[in-house]
Amino acid sequence: MIKFKLNGSVVETDAPSTVRLLDLLREEFELIGSKEGCGEGECGACSVLVDNLVQNSCLIPIGALEGTDVQTIEGYSKTPQYQVLNECYATAGGVQCGFCTPGMIIATEALLSKNPHPSEEEIREGISGNLCRCTGYNMIVDAIQLAAKKGDGLW
Ligand code: FES
Ligand code: FES
Repeated sequence: MIKFKLNGSVVETDAPSTVRLLDLLREEFELIGSKEGCGEGECGACSVLVDNLVQNSCLIPIGALEGTDVQTIEGYSKTPQYQVLNECYATAGGVQCGFCTPGMIIATEALLSKNPHPSEEEIREGISGNLCRCTGYNMIVDAIQLAAKKGDGLW
């Protein structure tokens, strides 16, 4: 039995400890916002926050989660910070197919919570673990710059 916090509630699972967090989220908890892109820790589509740090859920065996605090895009979407990011990504045109977006949003939260006023270079570095196949990254960078302005005081 593995017990951890998921989007604010304590949960337990009897799944084997080697199961990937990404599979547990999608299959057992039906949280399908975290996506599987590469399955190898390269694309960031599966990003979640574990104890407030951005992590690739495709690389985490659930045995490592005991006692941790996991937040997925579903939980994060209930926060005021998400509302700002949602609006700014839409305004800046940072979402095209949307496949990378949940992971990008999670990476953005991790960045802004550490550094509420990042430079363009720091933004590019902050999302460097997240790939978007649809677009250059300029609109995403614009969205994050906008969010840092609009959400001033939230992070
Ligand atoms: S699916 Fe996890 S990093 Fe690509
Ligand atoms: S919006 Fe399509 S992969 Fe990023």
